[in-house]
Order: sequence, then structure tokens, then C-alpha cells
Amino acid sequence: MDNSRETVVEIKNLYKSFGDHHVLNGVNLNLYKSENLVVMGKSGTGKSVLIKCLVGLITPDKGDVSILGKKLNHLTTKDWDALRSEVGFLFQGGALYDSMSVRENLEFPLRHHREKFGVIKDTTPRVMAALESVGLANTIDLMPKELSGGMQKRVALARTLILEPKIILYDEPTTGLDPITSREIVELIGKVQHTYGTSSIIITHDIDCAKVISDRVVLLLDGINYTEGSFNDLYNAKDPRIAAFFKK
Ligand SMILES: Nc1ncnc2c1ncn2[C@@H]1O[C@H](COP(=O)(O)OP(=O)(O)OP(=O)(O)O)[C@@H](O)[C@H]1O
Ligand SMILES: [Mg+2]
Repeated sequence: MDNSRETVVEIKNLYKSFGDHHVLNGVNLNLYKSENLVVMGKSGTGKSVLIKCLVGLITPDKGDVSILGKKLNHLTTKDWDALRSEVGFLFQGGALYDSMSVRENLEFPLRHHREKFGVIKDTTPRVMAALESVGLANTIDLMPKELSGGMQKRVALARTLILEPKIILYDEPTTGLDPITSREIVELIGKVQHTYGTSSIIITHDIDCAKVISDRVVLLLDGINYTEGSFNDLYNAKDPRIAAFFKK
């Protein structure tokens, strides 16, 4: 691997079990600045567990994670708060707050992370800018239930972008969407990377999404990073365990 690239996430020998169910068995993975790293793997291989370890939702049993040069197991609450404002996480389900309007959903992280921008008197310009970046400025006063699934995903992305994170973790951003809406989300992820220079980990089993969006692909298998390469490297791999995953 090219040593001149700046590493923004470093995962070293990461282990996580639930009882005697060993999910992560020594994952080693780096995310480099401004790249889109796609993580693939069968359902239940621990992809969501892996990225939950990166935001402190799950504590690993063993191993080290460093994000933007900070080791997670040595963080104070204050450090965690600061780090969370730099690491956006788009949940597998999208997860907008149902009882809040679109505007309130987007204001929420701004209020929660005052350490980053201070107290903002008028949040409207930031809320509008984030919504405009996903093409949904006209939804500001709607409730989540008034939006389609694809629109909810885009608003969730706007809510992530509003904090201007350096890193974005996407968990299955296109699942449950029709092919055209999926393509729109994929284009949006590409646009975000270009516009803001963000580094992203994108979990997906959507082969088209992986093909379009990835600078690099990692396949998780047996709780480890089994292989990595360009999309074409993996897609054309002779190893039957990799080929089986792409089901050609
Ligand atoms: N909090 C938890 N407690 C117990 N087991 C868990 C917990 N979270 C995840 N697991 C188990 O860890 C395994 C990996 O789960 P994970 O959600 O990471 O899979 P995944 O690769 O994201 O799958 P999918 O593609 O279906 O989203 C599963 O067997 C799951 O049941
Ligand atoms: Mg998952």
C-alpha cells in the first residue's frame, strides 16, 4: 500500500464476540484521506458491528482503532463529542426522528455539537445549505412520514453533512430503494466526496453501488478482512470464495 497517503482511520487486529459468537476475528483495515472504501460481505459477517466500533456504539474486545490520529480507547467524553462531530454515521435504517420536522432533524446535531460551531443564532442558512446539497430544500417544513424512503435517506444524509464531517460511514445507503433512487443516492455520495473531500466507508451488498462508488473494496469473511483491491480485482477474482460472493 502507498505509504504517502494520509490515514484517517486505522483499525488494528480488531476482535468482537457476543457470548461464544465470534464476529470480528482480527480485522485490519485503513481508510485513507478522500477515498471511498467499500466494505462488502454476506449478511451477518459483522459489517455493521465493525463500523459501530468506530463510533463507540460497540466496544471491541481487543484491538485498536484510531480516528484522525486519536486512539478510541483513550478518549474522554469531551474528546468523543469532538470526534463524533467529525465522523458522520448514516444508519442502516436512515433513522430520522419521526416526531421532528425535517428542519428540527437537521438542527438537532447543530445543537448537540455546539463545541464545533458555537451557538448559532439563526440555523436556517445552514439547514437550507445542507438540504440544498441533497436537492431537497423544499422539504424543510415537512415531517419524515411525508417523505418517500429515498427522500428520507437524502435528508438523513443532509443531517450528517450539516456538521461538515471529515469522515462519513454509510451503512447500506441503497438498501430498500428502487434502482433509480439507488443510483441517485450513489451519485450523491460521489458528489459529497468531490465537494467536501470527505473520506468514507460504505457498507453495501449492492454490486452496482460498489462498482460506481468504490476507490477500493474490502471483503469481510470469517470475521477478517479476507481480501481487498479495486472493484474489478475482486469481481474478476479466481478464488471461489470471492467469486461466490459476486455470484456470476
Ligand atoms: N448487540 C449485539 N448483541 C448480540 N449479537 C449481535 C449484536 N450486534 C450484532 N450481533 C451479531 O453479530 C453478527 C454480525 O452482525 P452485523 O449486524 O454486523 O451483520 P452485517 O454484516 O451488518 O449484516 P447485514 O448485511 O445483514 O446488515 C450477527 O450474527 C448479529 O446477530
Ligand atoms: Mg449490517
